[in-house]
Amino acid sequence: MKVVLAYSGGLDTSVILKLMQEKLNAEVITVTVDVGQKDDFKKIEEKALKFGAVKHYTIDAKEEFAKEYLAKAIKANALYEGAYPLATALARPLIAKKIVEIAKKENADAIAHGCTGKGNDQVRFDLAVKALYPEIKIIAPVREWGLTRDWEMEYAKKNGIPVKEKIYSIDENLWGRSIEGGILEDPSEEPPQEVFEWTLSPEKTPEKPEYVTIEFEEGVPVALNGKEMNLVELIETLNFIAGKHGVGRIDHIEDRTVGIKSREVYEAPAAITLIKAHKDLEKFVLTKWALEFKEIVDSKWSWLVYNGLWFEPLREALDAFINTVEEKVSGTVKVKLYKGNAIVVGRKSQNALYDINLATFEKSDYDQKLAIGFIELFGMQSVLAYSMANKSKPM
Ligand code: ARG
Ligand code: SIN
Repeated sequence: MKVVLAYSGGLDTSVILKLMQEKLNAEVITVTVDVGQKDDFKKIEEKALKFGAVKHYTIDAKEEFAKEYLAKAIKANALYEGAYPLATALARPLIAKKIVEIAKKENADAIAHGCTGKGNDQVRFDLAVKALYPEIKIIAPVREWGLTRDWEMEYAKKNGIPVKEKIYSIDENLWGRSIEGGILEDPSEEPPQEVFEWTLSPEKTPEKPEYVTIEFEEGVPVALNGKEMNLVELIETLNFIAGKHGVGRIDHIEDRTVGIKSREVYEAPAAITLIKAHKDLEKFVLTKWALEFKEIVDSKWSWLVYNGLWFEPLREALDAFINTVEEKVSGTVKVKLYKGNAIVVGRKSQNALYDINLATFEKSDYDQKLAIGFIELFGMQSVLAYSMANKSKPM
């Protein structure tokens, strides 16, 4: 049997790599997809071959990740349950897509991944693979064979797989870091400093604020501090700058697809800064009614992506709506980064619906007398209902 394994180089997937050769007599091809995690891909390849992979692929998918996934997430202000920018959730369907491409090319019998049966990642992997390649068998050894951390450590030691004392489960890509496990499983405990790698704690950040300007074109960031950049470079640069000011630390009680509540810690400096800036620009250029409706669309978009429904037609339909609305979302936003906060302090746009002539407290063309009739009609029913309900009550 020929199996293509999504290989990260970590404990779970290294154990699985060996175990599938042993238990299934499988010929395993490993694939590592580079979505911007800071890993040594040469080392991962060496490791895969050392533990018996017959072939290894490293696929650089950073550009595709930024263009086809992150740009859409920015336009949708994507935050699951108002907090989590979906870094892991957005990368899973892309990783699955790349694995499927290799499985087809290699004429494999099965695709394998290292997800547990408790999490969201299994849902995302399985649903993406099923949508893209319904005929292929999916093997999830951790879930199917009930592998526990302790058992894996034992097995790794016996098979010469190097094990660092693994405390946290970490997933990383261009859009953020997800950290789970260890002491974080106690939701009453503050996350220890050691879990953070991209952000400084506010006690350690510079005493002086730093300003960045972000230019958007049709909802997508195209320049940082006046310098045009492709999206990968822009996100990497902003992760560094905003991280230095402690922006983007998230401590979130989250509802998983499978119903479990979990405590999740994230670092996402660029994601948080860009979404704040983008949302502000939308408020500047979109009508009140479009904004109200888009909030519903945005939250449904995040819900679909979180729950592994990237390939669901509704997601594309929502994107079509979002793209139409976003045609107006061009302009520049100025953000102040200071002590863990990204604060929007200025915005400019050709499409601004903001009109100083209307908004000013000084003399303007706005006819204030029109407001009297407007208020009369606008509140007519509410005023009537309230007075009827309270007729008998003394004031
Ligand atoms: N709770 C997050 C999500 O569902 C993070 C998952 C992290 N995955 C991991 N393999 N450590 O997207
Ligand atoms: C896992 O259980 O494989 C990681 C966590 C998650 O998928 O939510």
